[in-house]
Amino acid sequence: MVKHKLRDSDFLSLQMLDGDELEDLVEEALRLKREGTKGFKPLSQKMIGILMEKQSTRTRVSFEVAVRKLGGYPLVMSKGDMQISTGETIGDTGRVLSRYLDGLVVRTFGQDRLEDFASAASVPVINALTDESHPCQALADMLTVLEYKGSFAGIKLAYLGDGNNVANSLMRAGTKLGMEITIASPEGNEPDRKIVEECGKYCELYGSTLVIGGDPVEAADDADVIYTDVWVSLGEKAEDKPLEQFKRFQVNYELLQNARDDVIVMHCLPAKRGVEITSEVLDGSHSVVWDQAENRLHAQIALLGMIFG
Ligand code: CP
Ligand code: NVA
Repeated sequence: MVKHKLRDSDFLSLQMLDGDELEDLVEEALRLKREGTKGFKPLSQKMIGILMEKQSTRTRVSFEVAVRKLGGYPLVMSKGDMQISTGETIGDTGRVLSRYLDGLVVRTFGQDRLEDFASAASVPVINALTDESHPCQALADMLTVLEYKGSFAGIKLAYLGDGNNVANSLMRAGTKLGMEITIASPEGNEPDRKIVEECGKYCELYGSTLVIGGDPVEAADDADVIYTDVWVSLGEKAEDKPLEQFKRFQVNYELLQNARDDVIVMHCLPAKRGVEITSEVLDGSHSVVWDQAENRLHAQIALLGMIFG
């Protein structure tokens, strides 16, 4: 059972879970969403720190609510108010915060920075987004796919746009769950090569497929799920990105015509309306983005339950 592996453990990336364990976690999230969390208080008397080195709406609020629902006390910390912004190391910060808190949810820059924090910390650390990955987002995304498509095997998910942290985690999740993942990005903006190679191994193990391509129309062809994210992520500068080349990757009504009739459209949010996705599609009948955002809460409740349960 997955709860033994996650129990008292860090959750820094999806690498730590095999396909069955990931599926168990997503199914547990669905169960908790349907049945509610009444009486389930694994965080009773526990204080969970939520440290944000970048802005956040969904992750911060959904973790804060999840911790409270599970009987714990969330404590939100922003970088600007902390000594890390005046030069204290991330490791020293992790070491000290572990003396007050029972767990830490951290949004930061490099994955190595998160790993330094986690190595110094003596309590479980959860990745709330790094430049490399966003595993909690991928948990909610898989919960959304399960709700709308009923299963994972053979479901075609086409991700269009920047091969960023969200794309990296989606590739890991999808290839561990037997899905057909296609990532179409402008040249030079493909997902992390090392993670693509890693996911190639998951394809062999779990019978999934992964195509990295540059043609958005081909990628969208017969897709069950179309997914996009912002073209400029937190910590990046618009002037450093070839935004002209991104334009043909916009998720719009015309592109949707290539997908299956029952395609669902996903976006981790926040969206830049009229940039990577049109308002017509974001607000249209295929969009499931608000359920997807809600699912951050349910997925994290399941995750926290397994770590602290
Ligand atoms: N999707 C997501 O992580 O949103 P926030 O940046 O608002 O937390
Ligand atoms: N790729 C985006 C995701 C935000 C939730 C970023 O890193 O800013």
